Amino acid sequence: MSYYDADETPANNPCAMKLPDDFLLDAKRDGRKIACLTAYDYPTARLLDEAGLDVILVGDSVGMVMLGHPDTTCVTMEDMLHHTRAVARGVKRARLVADLPAGSCESPEAAAENALRLAGAGADAVKIEGCSPCAVEAIRAAGVAVLGHLGMLPQRVAEEGGYRIKGRSDSEAERILTDARALEAAGIVALVLELVHPPVAARITDALAIPTIGIGSGPACDGQILVTHDVIGFSPWFRPKFAKARADVAGEIRRAVAEFVAATRSVGQSTKNQ
Ligand code: KIV
Repeated sequence: MSYYDADETPANNPCAMKLPDDFLLDAKRDGRKIACLTAYDYPTARLLDEAGLDVILVGDSVGMVMLGHPDTTCVTMEDMLHHTRAVARGVKRARLVADLPAGSCESPEAAAENALRLAGAGADAVKIEGCSPCAVEAIRAAGVAVLGHLGMLPQRVAEEGGYRIKGRSDSEAERILTDARALEAAGIVALVLELVHPPVAARITDALAIPTIGIGSGPACDGQILVTHDVIGFSPWFRPKFAKARADVAGEIRRAVAEFVAATRSVGQSTKNQ
């Protein structure tokens, strides 16, 4: 089975071609906002890609969203490789970014080696949490594009004492700005700002040439990223305040399954079950 219809191959369908490498920087220069969501599996990735998303992130949030863990700290490189391969099969157009999980960047060499493994699984770029300019430089030197991630760092949720807004105090704001500049100098292509006090996220966005991509960090960022399950209403047990649910997939699943159960149990009364 071919992914494309006969007249829809990458060669004759510009929409099916990968966004260019300088897409993120160009978007910021041209004032185009960057739309990003997470995906962890083939069908979701394919639907997001076909819907015109700019960036698809195989986030280590896979640990919570798909695997039912309480946080992201137990996600392994094997988990990330498995889900990145599945997502890569569905993404033809968007840029595919994969997270370097907790414990995968203990040294710059390990960071570079693991970035190359994710690239081998189909990622166009990797994302690294926290301020590690040496790791960023090593990943760049290995030939892999890398995004930074500052503000709330889910891989350090225990040390950070939970999920809280970062940068409310002057010292914390200065620290994030300094780290952002250090990461930009080390060569990141974009910076995710998670739960950063919106005026501080706006300041960082102004200060950097590379784009910022915010999550719960206000509208001034150059792009926005959310967990897809929050946007489509597929995790009704928890949704962060800043994520608006634009569909009710959980409700649709419950409705369809209840209909199937009822249809199955009524066999004999109705022949139309399938
Ligand atoms: O793991 C993740 O999903 C993230 C967020 C920025 C969405 O890192």
